[in-house]
Amino acid sequence: MCGIVGYIGKDQAAPIILDGLSKLEYRGYDSAGIAVFDGEHICTQKAAGRLAVLEHMTRGGESMKGFSGVGHTRWATHGAPSDLNAHPHTNKKGSIVVVHNGIIENYMALKKKLEKRGYEFTSETDTEVLAHLLDYYYKGNPLEAITKVLHRVEGSYALGILFDDCPDQLFAARKDSPLIVGKSEEGCFIASDVPAILKYTRTVFYLDNQEVAVLRKDNIEFFTVDEEPIEKQAVTIEWDADSAEKAGYEFFMLKEIYEEPKTVTDTISPRIKDGEIRIEELKFTDEELKNIQRIHIVACGSAYHTGVTAKYVIEGLVRIPVEVEVASEFRYRNPIMDPEDLVIVISQSGETADTLEAVRESHKRGLKVLGIVNVVGSSIAREADSVMYTWAGPEISVATTKAYSAPLVALYLLAMKLGRVRGMIDDALFARLLEDIQALPDQIEMLLGQKEKLQHFANRYVAAKEVFFIGRGIDYAIALEGALKLKEISYIHSEAYAAGELKHGTISLIEDGTLVVALATQPELFPKTVSNIVEVKSRGAFVMAVAERGRKEIEKVADYVVYIPYTNSYFANSLAIIPLQLFAYYIAVGRGYDVDHPRNLAKSVTVE
Ligand code: F6R
Repeated sequence: MCGIVGYIGKDQAAPIILDGLSKLEYRGYDSAGIAVFDGEHICTQKAAGRLAVLEHMTRGGESMKGFSGVGHTRWATHGAPSDLNAHPHTNKKGSIVVVHNGIIENYMALKKKLEKRGYEFTSETDTEVLAHLLDYYYKGNPLEAITKVLHRVEGSYALGILFDDCPDQLFAARKDSPLIVGKSEEGCFIASDVPAILKYTRTVFYLDNQEVAVLRKDNIEFFTVDEEPIEKQAVTIEWDADSAEKAGYEFFMLKEIYEEPKTVTDTISPRIKDGEIRIEELKFTDEELKNIQRIHIVACGSAYHTGVTAKYVIEGLVRIPVEVEVASEFRYRNPIMDPEDLVIVISQSGETADTLEAVRESHKRGLKVLGIVNVVGSSIAREADSVMYTWAGPEISVATTKAYSAPLVALYLLAMKLGRVRGMIDDALFARLLEDIQALPDQIEMLLGQKEKLQHFANRYVAAKEVFFIGRGIDYAIALEGALKLKEISYIHSEAYAAGELKHGTISLIEDGTLVVALATQPELFPKTVSNIVEVKSRGAFVMAVAERGRKEIEKVADYVVYIPYTNSYFANSLAIIPLQLFAYYIAVGRGYDVDHPRNLAKSVTVE
C-alpha cells in the first residue's frame, strides 16, 4: 500500500524523505513523488515507476533544497500508475500540497461540487479532491481548513500537508490508515511505518483516528478534528535499526526466514514463567476464559492460515469449538455470535482493513476481541480488548515468514493456557507440551541448516507450471501456507488440497511430472496421506514429502523427503513450514524475481 514520509527540521528534507520512502518500498507501490518547500515555493517532482526514477530526477534529493517536505509512494487504486496520478497533489497555484494514503469514498460528490465552483482536476485520483477542498476552506488558518475538510470527507486517510505560507509547519492527520509522528533533536517526522524513520529517531507518537498533528522543527502539537488540543504520550521503539536492513542477505525474505528461531523465542520465552504459561497482557479473568463457548478466529492470507492451524490445536487440546474465517467474508456474513464467544484476530501489520473491520463488527455485537499482532501501536492493537504482541520486529519482505511463525506459537501458548484453566490438560501432557514448544527454536535452526539441500531441489523445479500441496488435518493448514508462499513470489500456480479431497476432482489435473508436495507430519494420519501419495504417484506425479524424522517408510513412495525433528503433532506446522518457505524462496530466486516485492502485492492491505 502507499507510503508517506514527511520531515521538518534542521537538515535538508529531500534526502531524508527519499531515504524514508526507500524503507517503505516493501509496502508495494507503482509511482513516487516528493514536495519540498524551498524557502519561497513548494516544488514538486513525481514519476511513475520505481523510486529510483525519482531519486535520479532529483539527484538523490540534492536538486530539491529546503528544510520541510513530504514524500509518497503510491499503490494505484483510483487511476492508473502515472506521473499525473502520482502524489503529491496540489491546488491550482501549487501553494497547498497533499500526500494521502487510503480512499476518499465520497470523492465523486465532492469533486462535482468543486467543479461547479470552478475547480479544475488534472488527475483521476480521489486524493486531488483534498487539495482543492483545502484550497476552498483555507482563509489563512491551516488547522481550521484541515479540520473542515476532515469533517467533509468519508473514507480512510493518512495525510501529510504543506501550505506555502506556513513554511515552518508540516501537518498530518489520520483515520483508518496508519501514520506515526516522530521527534528527534534534528527535527520532526511523519511516516506510514516505523522503518522509514528508525534511522533518525525512536521516539514516536501514534496518531489516533481523526487526530491532527502540527509539526514544527522542534515541537509537535496534537488536536482533535474539532481543533481541541490533546496530549499524547511518546512511545520508544525498541527495534534496533539493523532489523530494517538486509544485513548482507540478498533479500529480506531470506533474512527474515533466518530470524525465525529468534522470533519464536521472543514470542514464547516472556510468557513461560516458573513452568506455567503467563500471558499477562490477556485482560480476561480465568472465569471468563472458562466461560468461553466458542472461538471465532478472523484474519487474512497467511495470518488466516495460522488461524486454520489454531482451530486444530485449540479444538484438539481444549475442546472449544473454533470457527476460522477470512476477514473479508466475516464482515459481510452477519455471523452468528454469542456474547460469551471470544474473537481472535491475527494480523502482522495490525492495519489490514478487513481484519480491523472484523474487530469493530465484533465490538458492535458485544464480543471481546483478542488481537495477535506484530506492529506495536497499530490500529488493531489499539482497538482490540487484549493484545498479544508477537515481537517479531519489522517484517519488510512482502511475503510473510517470521510473522507467520510468531503468531503460530502465540496461538499454541494460548491453547495451552486455555487448556490449563479449563482443566483439559493434565500435568504430564502440559510438561510435554512445554518441553516441545521450548525446543522449537533450536529445531527450526536445525532445519535452516538444510538450506542448500532445498536450494538444490528447488533449482530442479524452477520451470514448474503448477504445484499441488496436499495434507490432512494440521498438514492441510501447512499446505495452505506452502502453496500461498510459492504462488505469491514465484508466480507458479500452486494450490493446497485436503489430501482426501483430491479424488473428488482435482486428481484429474495430475499428469506425468506434476510436482506434488505432500505434508505427512501427523502420526495418526500418516498411513492415509501415504495412500494419497501412492494415488498421485500412480498418475505420474513427482512427490516431495515432508515427514517426521524416523518415518523412513515414506521413502518407498515419495521421490524426495525432507524430515522434520520430533515434536508434538500440534506443533508440527512450526517446523514443516521452514522447508516450504525455503523452497518457495529458492524457486523465486531461480526464476530471477524480485522476491521481496512480488508483483501486484502490497505488504499492508489498508483498503478493502
Ligand atoms: C502472505 C502475506 C499476506 C498477509 C495478509 C494479512 O505472505 O503476507 O497474505 O498475511 O495480507 O496481513 P496482516 O497479517 O498484516 O493482517
